[in-house]
Amino acid sequence: MSNNVVITGANRGIGLAMCMHFKAQGDKVFALCRNSSTDLEELNVNVIEGIDVASDIGVENMVAALSNVDIDVLVCNAGILRDESLSQLNVDTIREQFEINALAPLRVVATLQANLNEGAKVALITSRMGSISDNTSGGRYGYRMSKAALNAAAMSLSHDLASKKIAVGIYHPGYVQTEMVNYGGDISASDSAKKLVGLINQLTQDQSGVFKHSNGSVLPW
Ligand SMILES: NC(=O)c1ccc[n+]([C@@H]2O[C@H](COP(=O)([O-])OP(=O)(O)OC[C@H]3O[C@@H](n4cnc5c(N)ncnc54)[C@H](OP(=O)(O)O)[C@@H]3O)[C@@H](O)[C@H]2O)c1
Repeated sequence: MSNNVVITGANRGIGLAMCMHFKAQGDKVFALCRNSSTDLEELNVNVIEGIDVASDIGVENMVAALSNVDIDVLVCNAGILRDESLSQLNVDTIREQFEINALAPLRVVATLQANLNEGAKVALITSRMGSISDNTSGGRYGYRMSKAALNAAAMSLSHDLASKKIAVGIYHPGYVQTEMVNYGGDISASDSAKKLVGLINQLTQDQSGVFKHSNGSVLPW
């Protein structure tokens, strides 16, 4: 069966690679991005530009572009990583990460609720850096706090969307070779995306609200 799959932050990195894997398994992909890329254009999927997930106009553009689309899988992938230390606390970058990593995915899901089919799946790409019990090295205040906030929102979404039989997957992609980490990861974007797509394919209602590594292991909050 071919699903309608919507992915944010689809022009590069893990989002682009997920578009490739969903397309390869026969799904109809709607690739949302601020600006397209050559790699995305070459995939031959439905590219929707002008979607800054953290702006009012970006959300309006998204609603207009998807007005006739019934969504089976919604992947909130767009995110940013900034750096703050205790000695150089930059509240602007912390706020920026909250806007893009935590508030935007919640707003995207809330805004597209009416488009989600009964039994649809919502996948939130978070990070194990949002895990409080897994934090053994400190720092990265804005990223950790914003991803922890996303995890909290994801759990509420899993409860609030259950009546429509919508399952919510909460995924850490691994340490992935993308621009975000200066390509310093230990897994390629394609390999990570393949695992994520596999987990999303298997996601069922009884696994809704579970925080998982792309390798399938359950992560602590
Ligand atoms: N790489 C890792 O090791 C790692 C580990 C844990 C979690 N993650 C998470 O995985 C997700 C994907 O990251 P990545 O590694 O693929 O990073 P990436 O290569 O830096 O890609 C980030 C994507 O997010 C988009 N984006 C950023 N701000 C946006 C906004 N305001 N509106 C719309 N799109 C926006 C970017 O679009 P532009 O090109 O327009 O900037 C880009 O498409 C993120 O949520 C990240 O936190 C990554």
